[in-house]
Amino acid sequence: MTDLFDEREMGGFPLMGAQFTGSQSSRRTASSGHMHDAHLSRGKEIKKMKELQASEITESVRKRYGEIAKHGKPGCGCAPSGSCCGPLSSSLSTSSLQVGYSAEEVQSVPMGSDLGLGCGNPHAIASLQPGETVLDLGSGAGFDCFLAARQVGKTGRVIGVDMTPEMIEKAREHAKAGAYSNVEFRLGDIENLPASDSYIDVIISNCVINLSPDKRNVFRDAFRVLKPGGRLAISDVIATAPLPENIRKDLALYSSCGGGALTIDELESMLRESGFHDIRIQPKDGSREFIREWAPGRKLEDYIASAMIEAVKPMS
Ligand SMILES: C[S@@+](CC[C@H](N)C(=O)[O-])C[C@H]1O[C@@H](n2cnc3c(N)ncnc32)[C@H](O)[C@@H]1O
Repeated sequence: MTDLFDEREMGGFPLMGAQFTGSQSSRRTASSGHMHDAHLSRGKEIKKMKELQASEITESVRKRYGEIAKHGKPGCGCAPSGSCCGPLSSSLSTSSLQVGYSAEEVQSVPMGSDLGLGCGNPHAIASLQPGETVLDLGSGAGFDCFLAARQVGKTGRVIGVDMTPEMIEKAREHAKAGAYSNVEFRLGDIENLPASDSYIDVIISNCVINLSPDKRNVFRDAFRVLKPGGRLAISDVIATAPLPENIRKDLALYSSCGGGALTIDELESMLRESGFHDIRIQPKDGSREFIREWAPGRKLEDYIASAMIEAVKPMS
């Protein structure tokens, strides 16, 4: 198990910070000059440790989804740990039906683009209109982008962003196979989006933001790329109770959507700080059943739930 920092604790690293208090540099406090130096170097060291941990999380997430893109998913849902779903071809659509997609939606996309990695259906709240420009954060093999493409039509445009090269490669193959002319996939981080300012009408995402070690930047950058009046329509997991340390600090579980969930209050305040209005966060009934399957025996379903998240960038 790896110790992970918790971005909810604004000071940074609960464990590492405590260790650091007793380090050589923080004991150099004989004069106020030295005290100032000690604070500065402590600050730098904490920042460095935070960056290191964030990059460890990112690498673990990228590795996990790279493997899934190449070999398929070993179980059900966003956080597979067992093999509850059986063979790939029949199982994947089953998990998507379980989280809220219709059979028609699942069957309408290129084969292999639905990897069954979602925790809800953002299209249920996105109300996409013909001609709109849509951005999908963490687009995986392209499932939600292909569904969005149908709704925005030829005059609209869909951009999928994902940081895992193997996912982008798969998604591009599917776009080519399905001859989608209004969809493109960009390799990039959702914390630093490869999109221009005020360019997007709607941002969708399915079970991705919980995986980011820097959620504040995700919302800040989402706000930047949205047009005034643009909206967020996101499905993700939220924490319904304080996550116990054995869940919060398990890197494998974090990479499988178990350990990085924020509470409704935390999410709401990050969205508000980023400038969003009309925030609605609605936990989804019935998510216990599929979340239980993500990590059998870990009782994840007692601490996290799937939720629909909506917010709007004000007109001015
Ligand atoms: C649980 S999967 C969901 C995929 C897709 N939304 C779906 O429902 O099929 C998470 C995806 O988000 C991507 N991802 C995770 N963190 C990311 C980040 N910080 N920036 C960009 N992509 C990220 C992963 O590579 C992976 O493809």
